[in-house]
Amino acid sequence: MTASPLFQPFRLKSLDLKNRIVMAPMTRSFSPGGVPNSNVAGYYARRAEGEVGLIISEGTVVNRPASSNDPDIPHFYGKKPLRGWKAVIDRVQAAGGVMAPQLWHMGIVSPKDSGRLPPAPFEGPSGLVAPGKIGGVAMTEPDIAQTIKAFAQAAADAKALGFNAVELHGAHGYLIDQFFWHPTNQRTDGYGGQSLAERTRFAVELVRAVRKSVGPDFAISLRVSQWKLQDYAARLATTPQEMETWLVPLAEAGVDIFHCSQRRFWEPEFIGSDLNFAGWAKKLTGKPSITVGSVGLSGDFLAAFQGETSTPRSLDELLRRFDRGDFDLVAVGRALLADAGWVRKIREGRSFELIGFGKEALATLS
Ligand SMILES: Cc1cc2nc3c(=O)[nH]c(=O)nc-3n(C[C@H](O)[C@H](O)[C@H](O)COP(=O)(O)O)c2cc1C
Repeated sequence: MTASPLFQPFRLKSLDLKNRIVMAPMTRSFSPGGVPNSNVAGYYARRAEGEVGLIISEGTVVNRPASSNDPDIPHFYGKKPLRGWKAVIDRVQAAGGVMAPQLWHMGIVSPKDSGRLPPAPFEGPSGLVAPGKIGGVAMTEPDIAQTIKAFAQAAADAKALGFNAVELHGAHGYLIDQFFWHPTNQRTDGYGGQSLAERTRFAVELVRAVRKSVGPDFAISLRVSQWKLQDYAARLATTPQEMETWLVPLAEAGVDIFHCSQRRFWEPEFIGSDLNFAGWAKKLTGKPSITVGSVGLSGDFLAAFQGETSTPRSLDELLRRFDRGDFDLVAVGRALLADAGWVRKIREGRSFELIGFGKEALATLS
């Protein structure tokens, strides 16, 4: 099958993309002291030169004392980090690229192996990092208000620096997802509740604040997942009806694009249909969606962390779903981390030149 359908342009609000391929957000921890430097700018500029349609940055943390457990993860606040990000977006756009930062608060996480701790305790909905396991403090209502403000400020800064959109990291068991997930959200106030719809309130307020800060015409993507780093088999929504009560209020609050994180994009979301998560998100909300998960690679990314090498895989099943209109954009992680020229090779049909992904690619910002 030819990949040419992926090379149609895509327009939405502030986004004007030359193709449907998105670089997935990937933490690299190459920003000492939270400042993205010229190596980081070069890394993203090479993906822009390589014809990636939309580059989503690695997760970059908002202005809360314990939003990160790693001093080498970039900040999206403060003079020096924002100056660093300005250099990144300028170089990316000079190379013909379009880019959104992924705004992140880790919530309650385990400390890094280095033992370095942030200047305040990790914070989350109920102090829980995983079912029954305390790892930080429960956020007060003022903490919640300050956190929402920090996201809104970061989004406004992204727009002012010249980024083309923002993505909010609401997936993988980090702060926003800790509110969604019942085992980590045991609150008895208005931010908790037995239903997923009730536990969506924090994210709804956050999206509304971000929308207000960037105005109506700036694109906002929200990344969501059923799985968590704490539990790969976890599911927030067990039926399409439940998924609707989760995603529709977020669309109404201002989300333009749902970025639906799966480890393997071909896996159906619910019994009785082969639609994947991005397929359901688009069907239920009417909004464009991004699929992701082992596109063009033989093994999934968690296996890759355990040292498994992934080899190139055909795009036929992806194209079958794309042609059917299940989703609008396709995010590619490891294949693009390993090879800045991946998109051009696909466009030119040079599949014999694809290199796959091995763990050694994580060691450098090439
Ligand atoms: C090194 C690495 C770092 C990652 N960091 C992030 C991150 O900061 N934010 C995020 O939402 N996902 C992160 N992910 C998940 C990827 O965005 C993507 O969903 C996953 O790798 C599956 O896509 P792939 O199979 O094409 O690699 C990371 C993945 C990798 C491999």
